[in-house]
Amino acid sequence: MAITESTLTDWATELDHKTPQEILKHALTSFSNIGISFSGAEDVVLIDMAVKSGHPFRVFTLDTGRLHAETYRFIEKVRTHYGISIEVCFPDPVAVEKMVNEKGLFSFYQDTHQECCAIRKVGPLRKKLATLDAWVTGQRKDQSPGTRMAVPVAQADKAFSSPERLLAKFNPLANWSSEDVWAYIRAFDVPYNELHEKGFVSIGCEPCTRPTLPGQHEREGRWWWEESTKKECGLHVTPSK
Ligand code: ADX
Ligand code: SF4
Repeated sequence: MAITESTLTDWATELDHKTPQEILKHALTSFSNIGISFSGAEDVVLIDMAVKSGHPFRVFTLDTGRLHAETYRFIEKVRTHYGISIEVCFPDPVAVEKMVNEKGLFSFYQDTHQECCAIRKVGPLRKKLATLDAWVTGQRKDQSPGTRMAVPVAQADKAFSSPERLLAKFNPLANWSSEDVWAYIRAFDVPYNELHEKGFVSIGCEPCTRPTLPGQHEREGRWWWEESTKKECGLHVTPSK
């Protein structure tokens, strides 16, 4: 369906006080060509909700090549547990080879994570999103006080739209807290990544993710050698509502 920016802005207001299930239902019934982006972490709740909604949906994940073994096992577990297909997106091998052969396997510790994330995450995401009219993410406001405080439940994705085509983006968990997500996981026996039992709260690539201590914010476990305002990898651009 063709969509305008003002419709998405209206939806953001109308849906803001709805439950994640209602927001997800709205997204899945408004678009047939929509994909849920699954990182292999607690955003699994979106898959659980989508399955229970009974509406058709697609799931994709970006395999950067640098995920934890636990995350690969978890993605496979989710695939078989729910009996769903998970579309796995890989980075351009030529770009990865060039970067790694020129700069080594851990260039992000010196260069910042931007180049590696651009090649391993953003490029494959751009390719996938070019095939979709809308996507769903597990972003939440409480994940990053520095960068996600204004995440709306629905928005026009300015970063990945083209002049010919506006891409819609839904963040059904935007107003949920980490506690809400974990209460859902426990209440419905949702499978979770075993890294969560090892002190990891926010989970990304293995070299760029570490466990957090009690009282630390979850984002401190990501790209900890960089400033907090830079802890975004380009998948999500701070929205202007
Ligand atoms: S990131 O931008 O810092 O990496 P984060 O890990 O907080 O993102 O995840 C927020 C949401 O972005 C996830 O719920 C998911 O929708 C999407 N996302 C992040 N990483 C991936 C991935 N590897 N594959 C698919 N989606 C992802
Ligand atoms: Fe590369 Fe780290 Fe970004 Fe993963 S999170 S794509 S390893 S810089």
